[in-house]
Parts: sequence; structure tokens; C-alpha cells
Amino acid sequence: MHIFNDLTDFSNDEIGSLLELANQLDNYPEPDILKGKVLALLFFNSSLRTLTSFQAAMSRLGGGTFVVSPDMSIHGLETQTGIVMDGNAAEHINEAIPVIESYADVIGIRAFAQRRNLKEDLEDFSFKNLINLTSKPFINMESAINHPCQNLADWKTLDDFDIPKKDGKFVLSWAYHPNPLPLAVPASTLNMAAMRGMNVTVLRPDNFELPDSVMEKAKQIATVSGGSITETDNHNEALQDAHVIYAKSWTSSKYYKERDLEYEARKDLIEWRVKDSWFNNVLPSCRFMHCLPVRRGVVVDDSVLDSSRSIVIHEARNRMLAQMAVLYKMLK
Ligand code: CP
Repeated sequence: MHIFNDLTDFSNDEIGSLLELANQLDNYPEPDILKGKVLALLFFNSSLRTLTSFQAAMSRLGGGTFVVSPDMSIHGLETQTGIVMDGNAAEHINEAIPVIESYADVIGIRAFAQRRNLKEDLEDFSFKNLINLTSKPFINMESAINHPCQNLADWKTLDDFDIPKKDGKFVLSWAYHPNPLPLAVPASTLNMAAMRGMNVTVLRPDNFELPDSVMEKAKQIATVSGGSITETDNHNEALQDAHVIYAKSWTSSKYYKERDLEYEARKDLIEWRVKDSWFNNVLPSCRFMHCLPVRRGVVVDDSVLDSSRSIVIHEARNRMLAQMAVLYKMLK
């Protein structure tokens, strides 16, 4: 494996093989298998899980990591092409990325959406430019539209809790958040659940529909996998007999470039917070998932997050195991 950029680039068999390897590495550690190998971690945006789970994953396999981020005392990085660099940025990514990867055997990059143009963000235009600057094995640590490491860990989490593939009901629910959050997790999570063959319901208020191209891609995947994709703004309809409620806030595509209108649209949606009553008509075994970080009392009530339904910590630990499998396949 040379590039881990989008879970939909892989077949279900390949994903199954990665998850088998993740379990194997958990049960039968291989602490020297990547001895001498180096992973470069380039973060243009903040992180807790992705940063630490990659560091832990590499350490557990015997390799090393180094981190580069604008928060450190590095030169300001320019990302735009064809620009005269007479501003604050002293270094261009055209030099920075090849330099960073020359010290490493694999490079991971996190760079969220630029939010200048929805179409470009949906096509991961800027991120593809970053990938084109690399020649080493490459891992997407969250781009404008993809978060494959989260998706692989989430698939493993669903398996670990015996949540059915066929006829499993997966509710991807928008939740209130004070800020417009990226589309990467909801879009790629939708694809993950569709690939897994689940019946997916997207629960969202008006004006927070996922973009048409995102819904279309997921529907095409579901056609092949035997799953289904529906969407509604009706909680009762969506949550009935659910196996999983996966909560995530995301930005409005309708107001993508009009922040003021988006904040206005959010004001009346403060009650779209996951609470105990959401679980009234779900299956008794229904689980609560969230990729974290999550705002308590804003996105979800403490009583849900602290209940036995919540598997968010298991989900976060699976980030490390899933990434160990990816690193092993790339570097072994
Ligand atoms: N879920 C996730 O990617 O978490 P971080 O933003 O903390 O890395």
C-alpha cells in the first residue's frame, strides 16, 4: 500500500484484511517490526487523537515519528500556488513537503477545507495538490472531504460491537455546534457505513442537507453493497429501531461562503443535541458513536456520553489499532 487517502479506494476484502491485521497487532504485539522507520506528521490543523494515536501506533511497532505544525517555531508556510511571497509566510509547501518527507519513510498530512469554494473542497482540490508534492507512502489524516483513518477505526468499532452489516440501521445525525464544522467526517462516514452494507439514515435539519454529490456517491456505494441511504429531518422516523446513532455537526453547504447566514440558521437549532429521549424507540442495544472531540451539553448530554450506550473511547482507541495496520502494510 502506497497511499491511504480515501476508504472508498479499497475493496471490502482489503478493509477486512486491514481490520484482521489491526486485531492481530492488538493481541500479538510486534514491537520491533518497523524498527528504524520514521513517520512524518504534518498538521495544518489541530488534533488530539490523530496526533497521539499515530505517535503511539508507530512506537508500538518500533518506529519513530516527528511532528510539524504551524503552532511550532517553524517558518510560516505558504500553500497557494503562483503567489508572490511578500507576506508573512517565509517558506512554500513546494519545498517544505519534499524536505519533510526526505527525513521520513511515510508522511501523514492533515489539512482541512480552505472554504473558498465548495466545489473545490468537495473534490479535495487543495489536498490533491499536497499529495502531488509527495513521493513517499502517504496517509490522509483528514482533508476537506476525507478522514479514512477515522472511517477504518469506526468500521472496526462497529464490528467489535457486533453491529450488523446487512439490515444494520446506522443513523448519521447532525447535531448543534456553535461553529460550522467541516464535511470530511460526515461525508466519509456516510461512505463507510454504505460500504459496510448498512441502512443509513441521514438525520438533519433543513439547510443542513449534505451536498448532492456526497449523497449520490453514498447511494452508488449502497447499491453495490446491498445497503441503502435515506435522509429526513424527522427524529421519530430516523431513530426508530436504530442500531447506532453517530452524531456529528457539519457546516451548511447552502451558506458555505456566507458565514453570517449560517450562524443565523444555527441559532434556532440549539435543541438538536443528542439526549436520552433520542433513544426512546431505538433498539435496546443501540450504541452512541462520535469521532471526538465533542462538546458536552452542546452536541450531546452527559447522560448519553457517560452511559453504557456510548462507545466513543473504544472508538478512539481503535484509531491507534487501525493506523498500526495501515503503517504495517505500508512499511513492512
Ligand atoms: N477524531 C479526530 O480526528 O480527532 P482529532 O481531531 O483530535 O485528531
